[in-house]
Amino acid sequence: MRRGVNPRPTASEKEKGKSQRARTVTQMASDKVRVAVIGMGGMGVGHANAYRGDPRCEIVAVCDQSKTWADKAKKEFGAKYAFTTFEEVAACEAVDAVSVCLPALFHEPASVACLDAGKHVLCEKPMTTSVASAKRMARAVKRSGKVFLIGHNQRFGPDIQFLKEYIEAGNLGEVYFARTAWRRPMGMLVTPTARHANGEVYSRNWFNERKMGGGVGWDLGSHVLDLVLYFMDFPKVKEVTGCAYTKFGPEMVAGQDFVFDVDDHTVGFVKFENGASLQVEMSFGSYVEREQILQAVYGTKGGALRDWGQPMKLFSRTGDTYTTVLPRIDKPGTSPMAHFVDCILNGTPPLVTADQGVIVTEIISGIYESGEEG
Ligand SMILES: NC(=O)c1ccc[n+]([C@@H]2O[C@H](COP(=O)([O-])OP(=O)(O)OC[C@H]3O[C@@H](n4cnc5c(N)ncnc54)[C@H](O)[C@@H]3O)[C@@H](O)[C@H]2O)c1
Repeated sequence: MRRGVNPRPTASEKEKGKSQRARTVTQMASDKVRVAVIGMGGMGVGHANAYRGDPRCEIVAVCDQSKTWADKAKKEFGAKYAFTTFEEVAACEAVDAVSVCLPALFHEPASVACLDAGKHVLCEKPMTTSVASAKRMARAVKRSGKVFLIGHNQRFGPDIQFLKEYIEAGNLGEVYFARTAWRRPMGMLVTPTARHANGEVYSRNWFNERKMGGGVGWDLGSHVLDLVLYFMDFPKVKEVTGCAYTKFGPEMVAGQDFVFDVDDHTVGFVKFENGASLQVEMSFGSYVEREQILQAVYGTKGGALRDWGQPMKLFSRTGDTYTTVLPRIDKPGTSPMAHFVDCILNGTPPLVTADQGVIVTEIISGIYESGEEG
């Protein structure tokens, strides 16, 4: 049996994982993990491709609200079942584990239905779009004793794992501030429609609709907040403030039968109970030079800068000399799907937990609720 490459759990994760490991090592009804993918859009197809390439898995079901596309995808992935609702997946006894790749609005009901039906759940990001909902999901995870993982795929990258280990080893000293951003230049707003592989056009305007869980805070913000909070060890939030702007989206959909009522550029500032703070910026489109996914971590002994696509930089001091090092990162990363299967089969503690998702949700909700909209 091929094993995925595990991101190495940190000391605190190992400790937290002990009890979960005892609970989640699973006796499978089949010698493979029998997986269903719910929501066969861009991400769902990506998840299905990952499971298809993993000999430890069998794709038994796909689910999409488009019946024609679900039927086509069933054939493409050699599944037994094509469903159109997540309730049917939850009720299907042939399914051990699911990927929830639906619009954010449906993350809670689909995840909770599947957890309550005894299935392991890999839920795409954002975990959900309100604190009450995130807490309900966290309770469902505890109640079920099943594996629950949030699909923050960047966490599984080799650079992120390297930097986490570097920070955990004390190289930055006390981490007191972090700055993070995912900003896109003009021309990258989420278009209202896309095409499935069978040519069928479908609406993916949910990214742009508040009632569907859209908005740049939830979409891009959840990723980058998750990363810096991971570096800071998810401290307790004390205070959140921010501004959410809607400047360009309505013009993109003008004259079309689509709504754009979410933020397309949002900034926030967070204070933590341990005295640390962070600054975040996320943008679907603004007048900036290039797309940037940035994490800058400031410590008392050193600093680190991850600017996606550029070499990582580590800043420190030896005596009177200040140095910048570009570390060689030669370990491979992994994917959330391979890690999810490891968690199920081997009891590996999930790298992105529901409790961490609650903290990310609190911050994004806090920014939106701080009342500043432009
Ligand atoms: N990890 C990442 O980097 C990353 C990147 C993109 C999207 N995502 C996340 O993945 C999820 C899906 O995003 P996407 O880009 O694939 O969206 P998408 O709109 O392309 O696909 C969603 C699919 O779900 C189907 N669907 C919608 N509502 C449904 C319902 N109630 N029941 C059954 N099927 C339904 C749609 O027909 C569509 O095929 C979202 O949570 C998104 O935030 C994550």
